[in-house]
Amino acid sequence: MKKYKKAIGIIDSGIGGFTVLEELIKILPNEKYLYVADQKFCPYSTLSNSLIKQRLVKICHYFDKKKVKLIVIACNTASIFINYLKKQTKIPIISVINPTCKEVIKNTKNKNVGLLATKTTIDSKIYQSILEKEKINTYGIACSEFVKIIEDNQINTLNTKMIIENKLNNLINSNIDTLVYGCTHFSLLHEHIKPYFKNINYVSSKMPTANYVYIYLRSQDLLNKQKIVHKVKIKTTYNKRKIKKQIKLFKIKKYRISKINI
Ligand code: DGL
Repeated sequence: MKKYKKAIGIIDSGIGGFTVLEELIKILPNEKYLYVADQKFCPYSTLSNSLIKQRLVKICHYFDKKKVKLIVIACNTASIFINYLKKQTKIPIISVINPTCKEVIKNTKNKNVGLLATKTTIDSKIYQSILEKEKINTYGIACSEFVKIIEDNQINTLNTKMIIENKLNNLINSNIDTLVYGCTHFSLLHEHIKPYFKNINYVSSKMPTANYVYIYLRSQDLLNKQKIVHKVKIKTTYNKRKIKKQIKLFKIKKYRISKINI
């Protein structure tokens, strides 16, 4: 099969990467997508770094077998291991971090930026170290709990609103002009978060990453030249029924879901 006809592989611990997939389908409607939701091990941020790496290597090897043309790590927490993963597969890998940081740099004027991410991402300092080079102060708030809230469809409960308030209290007086959703799940909480801030920019990984994937594939002559309507295969490591309900939160209409044991 011609390389450009192959699928784009996407990784997340759960449904957060669907935010990136939704955007990819808009920009690249003629591609095939193979999405792995590692829900048996979700949230990644509750695991040790070595277990996260083991899981990611398994998924990369699965993508090797499926011969995808590109791997997109649509998970900030997993993205911190990109350099390690690049040594495990010959398939090119794109993570959400660099495109998201570029968008942050474009958006902030006063160079005070809030970062909501999992504890693993905050502790890795991956965002802080890139943004520091641009003299940007990053106020990182670890919000690992949000991932399970979203996976368990608890987005609109009173308890969730209280947890959000509690986290954002640490940011309200920090004079930020930009807030980064440094976890692909978190833009699903946007409606609850935005009342806490006035006139700030919100940056999430979805749009910058999808744009970057387009630029990359075009530069490598890997855009699908066939006139197909996008095809999406979703693989979960946990439970088909659960993800079938969860996908209804997104504008992804044509897909096939199955379980994989990896
Ligand atoms: N969507 C993942 C991220 O962007 C969630 C991480 C997790 O499973 O803890 O960080």
